[in-house]
Amino acid sequence: MTTPRLLKTPDEVRWFVKDLRRRGQTFALVPTMGFLHDGHLSLMREGRSRCDVVATTIFVNPTQFGPNEDLSRYPRDLSGDLAKCGSAGATVVYSPEPSTVYPKGYQTYVNVEQVSQGLCGDRRPGHFRGVATVVTKLLALFRPDLALFGEKDYQQLQVIKALNRDLELGVEILGMPTIRETDGLAMSSRNTYLSAEDRQRALSLSKGLFAMQAAAKGGESDVSKLLALGTKPLTDAQVKLDYLEVRDAETLEPLTSLSKDRPARVLVAAFLGTTRLIDNVALTGP
Ligand code: PAJ
Repeated sequence: MTTPRLLKTPDEVRWFVKDLRRRGQTFALVPTMGFLHDGHLSLMREGRSRCDVVATTIFVNPTQFGPNEDLSRYPRDLSGDLAKCGSAGATVVYSPEPSTVYPKGYQTYVNVEQVSQGLCGDRRPGHFRGVATVVTKLLALFRPDLALFGEKDYQQLQVIKALNRDLELGVEILGMPTIRETDGLAMSSRNTYLSAEDRQRALSLSKGLFAMQAAAKGGESDVSKLLALGTKPLTDAQVKLDYLEVRDAETLEPLTSLSKDRPARVLVAAFLGTTRLIDNVALTGP
């Protein structure tokens, strides 16, 4: 395993990409905010299996955090992350300073209108504007063949697919399955905030989602009945629910019943103390 090359400026990225293209190599991009876990690494491994080279970005993007959110305490570990990237097949890591990405006078933002609405879009005003802006900048700077994102952040994935399509960036966007701990908790850099007791209570999110998934498989198509099933474990664990909603898997429009011709997704957000966790699964009929 070799330690990846660390790039700090857009010029260094352009040189890296130019060199790679000169050699006729394909490359995949995996944008992250660091404090990497197996979910992030699964994206890099998949990128490596599909392309000659994998580049990762590590940037805690200030524009996607609200004023009362966890920007200043977001966990960071650049040297540990570099080693993990190397082990997962990434040979280059771009980790710029905030002042490089948003220099004095910066004034251009990307707003994806429809799929940014509702769910996390309502609860975290400005969040998807920040995500869409930084991801557009990264895709435009690197111009990769492929960019990989996790279904764990399902609404974010739909936002990124929309901006890539609407702005004709021409990148293949690949959504990858959520990697979970053995007990079902979706891996997240934010899990590190949880006390042992909250970590246990956090299992109610995936428990509720899996109960809904099993009921849908068993033929239940009434969304209000499914929601009652999914809410139960959260209520029992006294977790503060932010939202639990069933939506069309592509447009994210609200659904009142499941049907064969419209893939559905159930999405949840909940607070464990001050830590907000999200999760989601597909709902498919029998
Ligand atoms: P971050 O939360 O670090 O996640 C980086 C990528 O890893 C995202 O595509 C996310 O969906 C994926 N990911 C996170 N947990 C995962 C899991 N358990 N299984 C599979 N994939 C997982 O998402 C962001 O950063 C930022 O918003 C970003 C897109 C980098 C823009 O700043």
